Amino acid sequence: MGRRWGLLVGVLGAVWLLGSGQGGRQPAESAAQRCFCQVSGYLDDCTCDVETIDRFNNYRLFPRLQNLLESDYFRYYKVNLKRPCPFWNDISQCGRRDCAVKPCQSDEVPDGIKSVSYKYSEEANSLIEECEQAERLGAVDESLSEETQKAVLQWTKHDDSSDNFCEADDIQSPDAEYVDLLLNPERYTGYKGPDAWKIWNVIYEENCFKPQTIKRPLNPLASGQGKSEENTFYSWLEGLCVEKRAFYRLISGLHASINVHLSARYLLQDTWLEKKWGHNVTEFQQRFDGILTKGEGPRRLKNLYFLYLIELRALSKVVPFFERPDFQLFTGNKIQDAENKMLLLEILHEIKSFPLHFDENSFFAGDKKEANKLKEDFRLHFRNISRIMDCVGCLKCRLWGKLQTQGLGTALKILFSEKLIANMPESGPSYEFHLTRQEIVSLFNAFGRISTSVKELENFRKLLQNIH
Ligand SMILES: *[C@@H]1O[C@H](CO)[C@@H](O)[C@H](O)[C@H]1NC(C)=O
Ligand SMILES: *[C@@H]1O[C@H](CO)[C@@H](O)[C@H](O)[C@H]1NC(C)=O
Repeated sequence: MGRRWGLLVGVLGAVWLLGSGQGGRQPAESAAQRCFCQVSGYLDDCTCDVETIDRFNNYRLFPRLQNLLESDYFRYYKVNLKRPCPFWNDISQCGRRDCAVKPCQSDEVPDGIKSVSYKYSEEANSLIEECEQAERLGAVDESLSEETQKAVLQWTKHDDSSDNFCEADDIQSPDAEYVDLLLNPERYTGYKGPDAWKIWNVIYEENCFKPQTIKRPLNPLASGQGKSEENTFYSWLEGLCVEKRAFYRLISGLHASINVHLSARYLLQDTWLEKKWGHNVTEFQQRFDGILTKGEGPRRLKNLYFLYLIELRALSKVVPFFERPDFQLFTGNKIQDAENKMLLLEILHEIKSFPLHFDENSFFAGDKKEANKLKEDFRLHFRNISRIMDCVGCLKCRLWGKLQTQGLGTALKILFSEKLIANMPESGPSYEFHLTRQEIVSLFNAFGRISTSVKELENFRKLLQNIH
């Protein structure tokens, strides 16, 4: 009902504008309304409203999170951008300058990070190094102290991949390199059109539990897409169980978030004097305006908020892991590391205080056997999506695509980990649950991206209000 009404208001507004020409006084919000009027109030599938999220994110969380992400621990991400695409081989490597990723020189990255790509405390480190050496020598059984042997077992368990939603890069590979995320920001690269559509197309078409016969309205600007096709798609989506619908909404939210960034950091000026990146309202409208996208845009924005809530909930749930006294954001700089941990905990407690958390218990709740099968399906589909990122032609986009899917995968791992569920509720920290440094870095950076998107929506709302 609300949706129809919003669309109707939008249509009427547009007709009115067309009729009134340039001269007359025009309603202040019409352009803004066409993107945002349906994006307010309660979100489907959860009990939270958009305005509460906006206030919470833009004023309380966003500034502190930005601070944290600028620290050494979070700015260096190790990634293998040279993995072959497992699904097809005609990848058009886009040669654009803006697609290039500049990896770190080996002396740029703090030693503390390099030596401990998946460990998180000093003690654990030295123990692990001992273990690794022992493993290489093939001497795990006899020559190690009992304590070390236990640790070996413990760490092997941590590698237990059954919890993982992502196919992680092999970061020990010689092809994996550290990238400074601050020097390689996610922004408009010119990678769009058919190549980019192909990726999203595969993600949506083959991986979203969707029968072949139902088409999602892919590029709403293309001609030949009838109204009935859309209706079929959305009534199919409504009919799904909450988990499968959630899967679609997460992917759509990620897609929306990435497009918000590209519109907010559009290459506006490219002369020999300077390059200027900034907001491109037209680009934003093309992706999110209710009329231009035939109703898709506002849905995408709602899905962005849904994604936000899912990651927010995961962060609030994993607090005890970060509260463990032996947990460090280890870079080797003791003072800085301690300060960063304090900031991290401050942020996490702020997140925990958010009053309207998503209830993940509504997921996979039914019959145990069925729920487990569904969860496994969910996991396999998501892993597939993380592999598709190796097929993205633009390296800059591949970097951020990998980081954000790994971050979301880590959030899902947290939400659905049996270990965490069994051990965490107020009974103190669980020592069975583990996150690698890569997972931690991607989790917070991915959330930082969505938090930035929500903040950017406020900017676009203001910009749109000035248009008509
Ligand atoms: C903004 O984006 C549109 C495409 O959506 C493009 O045609 C236009 O040139 C861009 N504006 C600037 C200033 O780059
Ligand atoms: C994984 O993706 C490939 C390529 O799109 C597809 O052929 C395969 O069926 C997918 N598997 C799952 C479980 O989604």
